[in-house]
Amino acid sequence: MPSFYIETLGCQMNVLDSELAASGLIQLGLSATESLRDADVILFNTCSIRQHAEDKVYSALGRLTGWRERNPGGVLGVLGCMAQKDQRLIFRRAPHVDFVLGPGQLDRLPGVVQALLLEKTEGRIPAKELLVSLPRLERKHAEVVDSFRRYDPIRLPETRLRRFQALVRVMFGCDKFCSYCIVPSVRGPEQSRSPQEILDEVKTLTDQGVLEITLVGQTVNSYRFKEGEKTTRLADLLDKICGVDGLRRVRFVTNYPRGMDDELLQAVRDLPKVGKHLHVPAQSGSDAVLQRMKRNYTVSDYRELIDRIYDTIPGVSMTSDFIVGFCGETEEEFTETIDLVKYGRFKNSFIFKYSARPGTKSAELFADDVPEPVKKRRNNELLAVQDSISLEMNRKFIGRKVDILVEGPDELGNRLTGRTSCDRVVVFDGDSTLVGTFIELDIVDAAPFTLAASGG
Ligand code: 5AD
Ligand code: SF4
Repeated sequence: MPSFYIETLGCQMNVLDSELAASGLIQLGLSATESLRDADVILFNTCSIRQHAEDKVYSALGRLTGWRERNPGGVLGVLGCMAQKDQRLIFRRAPHVDFVLGPGQLDRLPGVVQALLLEKTEGRIPAKELLVSLPRLERKHAEVVDSFRRYDPIRLPETRLRRFQALVRVMFGCDKFCSYCIVPSVRGPEQSRSPQEILDEVKTLTDQGVLEITLVGQTVNSYRFKEGEKTTRLADLLDKICGVDGLRRVRFVTNYPRGMDDELLQAVRDLPKVGKHLHVPAQSGSDAVLQRMKRNYTVSDYRELIDRIYDTIPGVSMTSDFIVGFCGETEEEFTETIDLVKYGRFKNSFIFKYSARPGTKSAELFADDVPEPVKKRRNNELLAVQDSISLEMNRKFIGRKVDILVEGPDELGNRLTGRTSCDRVVVFDGDSTLVGTFIELDIVDAAPFTLAASGG
């Protein structure tokens, strides 16, 4: 039985796509292996969000020339956003790659792998396979939508990281076209799944023992499904999902600041199963920068949103993303981002140095003119501000009781970790039988990224 190995880079969407890929290959009769060197089929599920993520894949592919010489019958494939973005360039840079398959073609993966394995066992040298979707802005919308094929069958439970947690896609693609972002061109147009399809998937998952579901979409709060006169939005969907017996918690990522309406905030407040955590990327605290980024909101809109979130939902935590060193970002503009981070009191922020992506508006229109050392310094400075806020916010938990879902051992394997409804990581001494259960703990200490609790 041939074996396969999948290396996954990037976001939750790729984690889910890798589960789909693994399920398809297992159903084909292949077995999963943890060892890249021994695999007959090696797949890279790639990310294009920043240059660094792509560099990692090209160097990993470069290191596989020896594997290819030892395994002429093996199959090497590149999936994910870089597959859609770079297409044939991948064959040029890594001639030992057998196929390139974009995120809108995942349903075709088992067929391609099977055909390539067969051809190779019969001693033939198969032609390179390129399976990608249509370019977004050059073709008719309906044609492009069709070429980003929707694919979300039930995954095999063994392909999930943990048996009691699962990702559920609610929408594909993104229509926001922020000037710096490659996602709309590689993940295609926004397409929401029907509430019934989503609900059926949630029920199947809870029957398999899943306690916590994370709904994923590039802009999950843009979820909108029309059936006749009726439109289902994310708030309605959350309400329906919370009705599923056996499900204990539901989360959703990622949100776009515009469209965080009161209905959604009230749903998060009123539905006990919904995690009290909102990830709403701000990207910058400067109006001029937000405008160059084409984000369609102002800093004061975002500040009002912060107020509205904290005023509406007791105990909620907020997290955000920021890009530093965006084209033309001045020291003053960067300082405005520091001010926004202070104002936001985020549980944590993900901070990235701007990386110009060929094919995006910002790469076309503006010079990537903030020098690398300045980007690095701003990144560190913003991180330091955020870390001290994270610690301050976490310290408020000392002496309080929290409910957590126990996830598993920590990195060192010595203690257990779990998460609160507001997405804080709690570390404690406990027995491994607690994994996959909800328990209440007393918080005794706090660090920027974790809370410590007395034994469970
Ligand atoms: N450079 C740096 N960071 C980026 N992101 C998206 N595109 C880029 C880019 N070109 C960041 C944004 C987004 C997160 C997923 O990645 O902050 O929210
Ligand atoms: Fe990229 Fe903006 Fe879409 Fe997020 S909302 S995926 S940053 S284009």
